[in-house]
Amino acid sequence: MSDTRLATALSDVTMAVEAELDRLIPVPATLEAQVHEAMRYALFAGGKRLRPFLVLASADLFSVPREDAIRVAAAMEMVHTYSLIHDDLPAMDDDDLRRGKPTCHRQFDEATAILAGDALQAMAFQVLSEPETDPDPAIRMELVQTFARAAGANGMVGGQMIDLQAETVTYDLDQITRLQNLKTGALISWSVEAGAILGRATPAERVALAAYGLDVGVAFQIADDLLDVEGDATQMGKAVAKDADAGKATFITILGIEGARNTAAALIENAVARLDLFGEKAFLLKDIARYIIERRS
Ligand code: IPE
Ligand code: IPE
Ligand code: MG
Ligand code: MG
Ligand code: MG
Repeated sequence: MSDTRLATALSDVTMAVEAELDRLIPVPATLEAQVHEAMRYALFAGGKRLRPFLVLASADLFSVPREDAIRVAAAMEMVHTYSLIHDDLPAMDDDDLRRGKPTCHRQFDEATAILAGDALQAMAFQVLSEPETDPDPAIRMELVQTFARAAGANGMVGGQMIDLQAETVTYDLDQITRLQNLKTGALISWSVEAGAILGRATPAERVALAAYGLDVGVAFQIADDLLDVEGDATQMGKAVAKDADAGKATFITILGIEGARNTAAALIENAVARLDLFGEKAFLLKDIARYIIERRS
């Protein structure tokens, strides 16, 4: 893999998605301005923008117009950011630091943070449903429907529910895998699938990309759990040792550090193999998959 090639592509995506988010969420000079400010605060605090990267890299396989794909990438980042704002609330992980800055509820207050999360989620679906995202209403409907499934009780929210229970219940490997598939895999997998939906992919292409996304998603969460044990809080911009302090079951409590690392590596090799049918042009998806388990933040 070329590190420079990936770093350049990542910084291009970051600039493009931030410009789109800036355009989509202005701060009005009205009484409710604070909720817009809180949305922007959380969105622009930093973040690796990995999910937007996956949307755009997948869409590029099918030569989807960039101005369409960037809206879907922005919608994805809105829902991801909402999930982080709520994840950090006192009722959930009770964190003070996110993306190197005070968490949204610390910077504003809990009620504002809850509302900012709610509004980001709603705005994401608004963006997907607007004609600028794709001229074909059937495509927009498919994006909305699959995204709702990935974000809701049978996706990310369901995973968060199992995750909170992991502080008091001991899970086996299958149960932890389900937790991670829902909590993190669903949105990551959707990011890749969204590119395929915009690109009118064939069923075989779509299945391959969804499978790649699920494997990458679980590997991504294993890497997050490993970083919680071994990472550097300053580099990561968030607290570490949170899972152990909360007595939370993760892949690491079951497999140990080495086992978890090996599992993540095997998932990534599997994921990369799924892309064979795209040949050379899937190089960015392969690069990002490998980066996801090597990252330090
Ligand atoms: C953190 O996601 C939450 C998890 C699903 C583990 P990221 O590590 O992608 O967070 P940002 O977007 O870079 O801040
Ligand atoms: C959060 O998982 C995943 C979602 C927000 C869906 P974590 O609680 O492990 O994420 P961090 O470590 O706080 O970023
Ligand atoms: Mg959490
Ligand atoms: Mg957390
Ligand atoms: Mg974590």
